[in-house]
Amino acid sequence: MLLKWAGGKSWLTSNYKYIFHSKDSLKKSFKGYKSIKYNNYIEPFLGAGAVFKYLQPKNKSILADINSELICFYNFLKQDPEGLYLHTNKHMQNHSEKYYYMIRSKHTLKDSLEKAARFLYLNRTCYNGIYRVNKAGEFNVPIGDSISFNASEEEFKAYSELLKNSHIVNQDFRKTINDAKKGDLIYVDPPYVTKSNESSFDMYSAHQFNWNSQKELAKMLDQKNQEGVNIIVSNINDKNVARLYLKKNGWDHLALNRANVMSYNAEGKKYKEILFKNF
Ligand SMILES: C[S@@+](CC[C@H](N)C(=O)[O-])C[C@H]1O[C@@H](n2cnc3c(N)ncnc32)[C@H](O)[C@@H]1O
Repeated sequence: MLLKWAGGKSWLTSNYKYIFHSKDSLKKSFKGYKSIKYNNYIEPFLGAGAVFKYLQPKNKSILADINSELICFYNFLKQDPEGLYLHTNKHMQNHSEKYYYMIRSKHTLKDSLEKAARFLYLNRTCYNGIYRVNKAGEFNVPIGDSISFNASEEEFKAYSELLKNSHIVNQDFRKTINDAKKGDLIYVDPPYVTKSNESSFDMYSAHQFNWNSQKELAKMLDQKNQEGVNIIVSNINDKNVARLYLKKNGWDHLALNRANVMSYNAEGKKYKEILFKNF
């Protein structure tokens, strides 16, 4: 993966391939799952895009996120992977505490290549790959402990090739989901906010996603379910969240662990994650 992202779903695509019904994951029939065909692939909360990267959709994809710097990065990666690779590597070679804060302070770059390379450099060297901005919209995450970036030029090019049939857009989830049509596949991975804890609100950006958004999202997905869109939602395993996706409305509930093993969290709760699926 080129990016580190809070809430990234590599663990899901590694340990639970079958839930996507993709041919690759279902070479051997698993739990009676059959592979599905879909038209457009839609991801309204893209982040580091682990699921898009895993599925490698053949048809058109609509990839969206509210984070404008993230979307600028993807658009540049699609257009000029070599340029982005070279520029990012230059940053990586110059990396030091002083250099990090100097690049971080460049909040008003105009050139798309410089913006995209700054974004990737800061993402890979900041604390835990967190994206957080201040009230003025300026990235303000401190430097992290280590730098572990060894992506090759080939990896940049392969990602760019993968993005060939995608429309990458900076917009709110409401607009993206609204455009989904019967026969499309949507993978939905919102920030994990609950009724009593809206703190992942902080983790991505200044505006955006709270408990009311969770409720609105579920309502929109109920509507799209009725219209015949294939939907998979990742979320936090919380009783109020689960009530937003009623089984009687066609939602299957699958509680999952990040690792494909039984483990308990501090409260003795077994599964921290849940998936809601309508197919
Ligand atoms: C849990 S992350 C997605 C992680 C992704 N699945 C991955 O594998 O890296 C949630 C994403 O939602 C985005 N987001 C937050 N509020 C949003 C909104 N209102 N509309 C669209 N995207 C939003 C954040 O910028 C963040 O990238």
